[in-house]
Amino acid sequence: MPTEQYDDCWLRYERVADDALRDAYRRRCRHAYVAEKSPECSAVRDELRRAVPGLLGEDVHLWQHPPTTAEGFLAVGTPDDMAMIAESVPAEAVEDLVDGGYLLRSVEWEGQDCLVVTAPTDRGLVYGTFHLLRLMATGEPVDDLDVREEPATPNRLLNQWDTPFRGTVERGYGGESIFDFDRLPDLRDRYEDYARLLASIGINGIVVNNVNTDYYPRGTTTEAAQEFDGWRLLESRRLEDLTSLASVFRRYGIRTYLSVNFAAPMLVGDLDTADPLDEDVRAWWREKADEVYDLLPDFGGFLVKADSEGQPGPYDYDRDHVDGANAIAQALDPHGGRVWWRAFVYGSHEDRAVQAYDTFEPLDGEFADNVTVQIKNGPIDFQPREPVSTLFGAMPETDLGLELQITQEYTGQGVHATYHLPMWTEVFDFDTHAGGAGTPVKSFFRDPGEGVVGVGNVGEDHSWTGHYLAQANLYAFGRAAWNPDCDAEAVTTEWAEQTFGADEEVVETVVEILHDSLEACIDYETGGLGLMHMMHNGEEYLENHYYPSLEEWPGYHGASEDGIGVDRTSTGSGYAAQYRDPVAERYESPETCPEKYLLFFHHLPWDYELDDGTTVVQRLYDNCYDGVDEVRRLRDRWAALEGRVDERRHRHVAERFEEQVAQAERWRDVLTERFRDCSGVPDEQGRVPEP
Ligand code: GCU
Repeated sequence: MPTEQYDDCWLRYERVADDALRDAYRRRCRHAYVAEKSPECSAVRDELRRAVPGLLGEDVHLWQHPPTTAEGFLAVGTPDDMAMIAESVPAEAVEDLVDGGYLLRSVEWEGQDCLVVTAPTDRGLVYGTFHLLRLMATGEPVDDLDVREEPATPNRLLNQWDTPFRGTVERGYGGESIFDFDRLPDLRDRYEDYARLLASIGINGIVVNNVNTDYYPRGTTTEAAQEFDGWRLLESRRLEDLTSLASVFRRYGIRTYLSVNFAAPMLVGDLDTADPLDEDVRAWWREKADEVYDLLPDFGGFLVKADSEGQPGPYDYDRDHVDGANAIAQALDPHGGRVWWRAFVYGSHEDRAVQAYDTFEPLDGEFADNVTVQIKNGPIDFQPREPVSTLFGAMPETDLGLELQITQEYTGQGVHATYHLPMWTEVFDFDTHAGGAGTPVKSFFRDPGEGVVGVGNVGEDHSWTGHYLAQANLYAFGRAAWNPDCDAEAVTTEWAEQTFGADEEVVETVVEILHDSLEACIDYETGGLGLMHMMHNGEEYLENHYYPSLEEWPGYHGASEDGIGVDRTSTGSGYAAQYRDPVAERYESPETCPEKYLLFFHHLPWDYELDDGTTVVQRLYDNCYDGVDEVRRLRDRWAALEGRVDERRHRHVAERFEEQVAQAERWRDVLTERFRDCSGVPDEQGRVPEP
């Protein structure tokens, strides 16, 4: 990538420092033969041309046929592509693999030490090649390679919240949108580099525009929020333009998707209704889908945010979500396309947590086969910590998607170093008990129509993500979506090694910072007992959710003179009962509810005693103070890397850490002073000022 414009992220391909290792790689990689057939294979060739000179310090010789030199070589292809692969890898071993799966083998062929990347599909060849390059970039031996990899999750999708024609990214902290929809079909180099980054972590689909495809909700009055024209991408001219962008992603095995507006038949078409049961509406969707697939035969499908935050939906016509989703799904079905229908709705319920389950659980079994219900990890909205959504496990007859937020909307945005992987592994591993003990969330995304979805965090910044360390969130998302059983520390380590090089002290420090960052954020932003959403969120703050405020949304924390927290048990909103036993039972009682969720489920007196005898209010004070101390410690850990990390990135992160410490102190002070005011209980350690 042209480093003067933007960062290479984890695809730096820096020279392998160890001579012996470099020689070993050279022996097998200086010559390469990549099957000559598909766009994916040409992407593989380009990647080798970029990577090998960087890693080995000399060009790769790409042959038109399996080389016959006295040296070994790297062969990339399916077994049908070349005798060399067919002869060195048993056919069944390849046939058995699912789409995206691949094998990496060191083999001997005609007396030469070779490497093979093979797969049943060309997409698998792309992933296999990136895996091999990752091994070299992280200094792993390749002389005895026998890797078999398959994605555990069939759909690993990125949701861009980019707002077409405005160039902005909703909740994006990495700058303007990298996509210039107005200039399509003209392409930018950056599109290809983005596709490379995504393919290298196994992403196989991208929704290119924001779920808010129309006028932004909640009566927003700011100019920036007036119109989200994403629905225009369904216009014929725009669809034609989109083909060029889609072809960039296709080379890397990534299918293109669009967010569509439920009222598109009226906005894009000229119908006077979008009623999903209206025959003209259904015919309109069919014609539109036919048009899309004529242009983009591998198009993935439509993502829909309906009846949510001001977006139109089936309720406008007294229909339900099944009617709405199925009307669009019938149009995509003949083409193998899919509707991703978001469960992020809220309506009349006083406690928003109960809404998604109440709305969707009764509809289980009624959605068409090509509908996936896309559910946020928690019942509220991407908070630093939330219990897992009750919908997981509650819709056995429906294809489900898990929606995670890669972008740091509520975790310090582009300023704080907050790493989301520990949150995601907690979600994946959560046992829903839906099919008895041992039914973790991660077990719900294995069928062909299921998947894991991440709200993206890239923009036009040099760093792509607004904060160099936030690149780790994108990286980890892809790796964890591919394999929710992944070892989190191993993923972070491989990211750090590729991003910062082989210096062990740097790698260990970065991994430590990232892994300790989330708990710190939870402590200073929430007090660590399950509170949430204590931030500004007004119209004038469309891009807010950054500064603390307990005034705006008192319903989320329930702080009053008599105590704090929200009763979501049977005496309150009843949300706890939406879980299966024994989870429901565990959350129902403050005695058994895990401390980290205590005030999410319970409204408790300020002096309620926790297991270790500390009162609730004192624990909130302590956690808020600990969170700040921890950020200071992480800042100092980073500062100590000066001189070991290049100046640009070191300074950038160091400056942000200073700001993070200041903001963490602000959060701590706003929260603790409010707790002090409401409770009337002084901090035992005298840190919180007396009113
Ligand atoms: C949150 C977020 C919005 C977004 C919405 C959604 O409310 O703040 O920007 O549109 O989630 O996921 O649809």
